[in-house]
Amino acid sequence: MDFVIRPAGEADLDDIFAIEHASFGSTAWPRQMMASELSPNPNRNYFVSLENDKIVGYAGIGVVDGSHADIMTIAVSSEQRGKGLGRALMNRLIEVAAKRGASEMFLEVRADNPVAQALYESLGFVQIDLRRAYYQPEGIDAVIMRADLSTKVAERAQQAIREPLVLGIESSCDETGVGIVRGNNLLANVIASSMDAHARFGGVVPEIAARAHLEALQPTLRQALRTAGVSLSEIDAIAVTNGPGLAGALMVGVGAAKALAVATGKPIYAVNHLVGHVGVDVLERGEVVTPTIALLVSGGHTSLLLVRELVSDVELLGETIDDAAGEAFDKVARLLGLGYPGGPVIDQAAANGNPKAIRFPRGLTLPKDMEKHRYDFSFSGLKTAVARWVEVAEAKGEDFSVADVAASFREAVVDVLVTKAVAACLDNNVPRLLLGGGVVANRRLREVAAERCEAAGIELRIPALSLCTDNGAMIAALGAQLIMAGHEPSTLNFAADSTLAVTNIQTS
Ligand code: KG4
Ligand code: ZN
Repeated sequence: MDFVIRPAGEADLDDIFAIEHASFGSTAWPRQMMASELSPNPNRNYFVSLENDKIVGYAGIGVVDGSHADIMTIAVSSEQRGKGLGRALMNRLIEVAAKRGASEMFLEVRADNPVAQALYESLGFVQIDLRRAYYQPEGIDAVIMRADLSTKVAERAQQAIREPLVLGIESSCDETGVGIVRGNNLLANVIASSMDAHARFGGVVPEIAARAHLEALQPTLRQALRTAGVSLSEIDAIAVTNGPGLAGALMVGVGAAKALAVATGKPIYAVNHLVGHVGVDVLERGEVVTPTIALLVSGGHTSLLLVRELVSDVELLGETIDDAAGEAFDKVARLLGLGYPGGPVIDQAAANGNPKAIRFPRGLTLPKDMEKHRYDFSFSGLKTAVARWVEVAEAKGEDFSVADVAASFREAVVDVLVTKAVAACLDNNVPRLLLGGGVVANRRLREVAAERCEAAGIELRIPALSLCTDNGAMIAALGAQLIMAGHEPSTLNFAADSTLAVTNIQTS
């Protein structure tokens, strides 16, 4: 049996009314009444069940959060009866009522319908009253039944806090990511990248990225649900990146997440992209071990964080004052005529080069800089130095080695990144370093980080690359951590914030 149950809306009125009419005849609700039941109302939850996209049943409850729920109506089209559809709809109603904290649930059923009464009894309902001649004009009695949901409510609430099923949406740069986690477990991580569309510009073009998100979001969402094998109605909460990142790109994800939250009635968590890069570690490790230093390096950011507590205490130690590390790779690859994105092609070109061939400058590492900008980065001077070096070599008509330039450039970037990250660990007495962001793919960065961390007694964590580059799973993971730590959802008033500070882990 392949039925789908989804929340019902006003657009379903005709189909629902047709079944209502066929099922209840003269006692059917007037169309107007059915329409008002389906209109948006926080005290109503209606569902339809579909077979091959055709509505074959529906049911609804009236619910007062934290108190009780009443079954308003339930019907299944006559051809589909006896297939367990009524039971499935009832289970969905009970689940929703329990989720909304209703500790008891009531219904009334015709006394001349023993099949329905048996179904309700098997679901835990017991008769508490009989109303004589309730159904007119036939004068049939109504059996009033009640189910105690208190244990279900408690179980459901605990489950949702213990292991929440969270959908995360990420759209801060050029990756549209939708991830689904249950507690600390990864269920789906689907990513659509618009990188190819930016290639001929040599860097991410914000307008192109925003438009690409708009196109990619729905298919990515659908694919993630399919991969995880869950339906939207089962999700406990939605998490979304609200910053930092490209304003237009962020807005697409934030808008989509809010729309989903409103349509499904799920709580929403607006979370910080950078902290998401740190939180992703729970998906492989089962926990985030703190305190930890985190070095986040991508095309959009180069940040050094001191994470004392993932959900409540993250400090920005330093960041780039000009280009991001990945951006430096992209720009230098462009001036060497190697293509885009720069990281992988420079890595490749550098493989046969001599990293000591040219001594390129290490930004912000002079003693005076290490006082004022100890944890900050600067790569624009390095990029200019490479450009100048190439210019001079070309002017002299020298036949220089691109491999040596690439290797020497890469060495300069990696040296600075690792030097400052290790210093942050030692200065703060934190024996742990976590890497995140697309530049983590860099082979030399991995090597040098591993060598120097080992020498300094620092434990190095590098998540799988699919979790290092921008993705929705890290956003879902952070959302789940916030829920498990008992944080309240965000209101719907938050906005995309392109310069969101890292200390702002969740926007309320
Ligand atoms: O995290 P990410 O996918 O998201 C954005 O920032 O968009 O990072 C992409 C960045 C690009 O700048 C790319 O050049 C860089 O990561 N990157 C690398 C390598 N692979 C990708 N940088 C250095 N070495 C690599 N192997
Ligand atoms: Zn990122």
